[in-house]
Amino acid sequence: MTEATLRADTRTVHIQWNDGASADYPFIWLRDNGPEGFHADTKERHFDLLSVPVDVAPKAVTLNGGALELDWGDSGGVSRFDMDWLKAHRPGCAFADPAKVAIETWRADLGSSGVPRAHADDVLTNDTALHDWLCATKRTGLSMIEGLADSRDVGIEVARRIGFLRETNFGTTFEVKSKPNPNNLAYTADRLPLHTDLPNQELPPGYQFLHCLANEAMGGGSLFCDGYAVAADLKSDDPAAYDLLSRISIPFRFHDAEYDIRRRHKVIALDDTGAVTEIRFNAHIADALDLPADAIEPYYQAYRRFMALTRDPAYLVTLKLAAGEMVVFDNRRVLHGREAFDPNTGYRHLHGCYVDRGEFDSRLRVLSR
Ligand code: OGA
Ligand code: ZN
Repeated sequence: MTEATLRADTRTVHIQWNDGASADYPFIWLRDNGPEGFHADTKERHFDLLSVPVDVAPKAVTLNGGALELDWGDSGGVSRFDMDWLKAHRPGCAFADPAKVAIETWRADLGSSGVPRAHADDVLTNDTALHDWLCATKRTGLSMIEGLADSRDVGIEVARRIGFLRETNFGTTFEVKSKPNPNNLAYTADRLPLHTDLPNQELPPGYQFLHCLANEAMGGGSLFCDGYAVAADLKSDDPAAYDLLSRISIPFRFHDAEYDIRRRHKVIALDDTGAVTEIRFNAHIADALDLPADAIEPYYQAYRRFMALTRDPAYLVTLKLAAGEMVVFDNRRVLHGREAFDPNTGYRHLHGCYVDRGEFDSRLRVLSR
């Protein structure tokens, strides 16, 4: 039988479910999360945490069908918790999150044929197809949409199926083609070594979409590498380099006539558990290293180690985008680049945009409801 017990000594309610699961819920946590403290429409908390002492205690606890009822006495009213909600929110256990897709790192053996593919019509019209494609894109950090009409709008339409676009100083969408007076190496015909876009931004853009409208020039093949795989291998092969790259921030800068956007970031970002959450690597917009003189050569040693790995064919997946295809990748994980092309041999034109990780994850959660 499921039982709930008040434990005054630890100021917790102990719940023992009939299936063997159990958990301890601190009183203050229960007071702060009582459903009556949330606005019925906005679902936002209107309960004021400072209206109760931190050692607040319920007068009584009862199990009433599928609910746990806590009587807070004269001023506090009653909190009525759904038992399933309590079970899903056991303190110390990570809450279920449909956007938490298990990441699969990859190396060269993924091959271009291993890149997940989806058809534009399916993703545009079918929510299940959209959901499955988003999961695959998050798992691999890279995917391909095929069957796009010859229109700049349609790639954007696919991106907007996820959420609103991330605007940057290059616009809400951008044209990747060889242009006069370029303000970005991408807008030349030059080779672009593997990089992540815009680490000079406070928040580098999340998912990047590059819709190929034409790719007829000689050269211009696309390169990809999983930055998480590079980081994992660096960690085991050269822990000192990994330590420097994940501990020391370096400056990045983009500047042209209108903008001067600077930000310091670590090349390898970690979360509280030490897991890699993000890679920022872009040699074209790395600003002059401003570390103390005696830290510069050691940093370069680590940074060059990482850079050398990004040139190692063991990590490289190459493909040549064809008109009607769009590559989609997590710009904060997967590095991208391109071979030089010869604009005299044919036209090359990609149309790009970004959608940040937050909107991507939100769409995944809503589609999972
Ligand atoms: C970019 C970029 C790659 C390409 O626009 O950021 O890296 O294939 N483009 O042109
Ligand atoms: Zn780029």
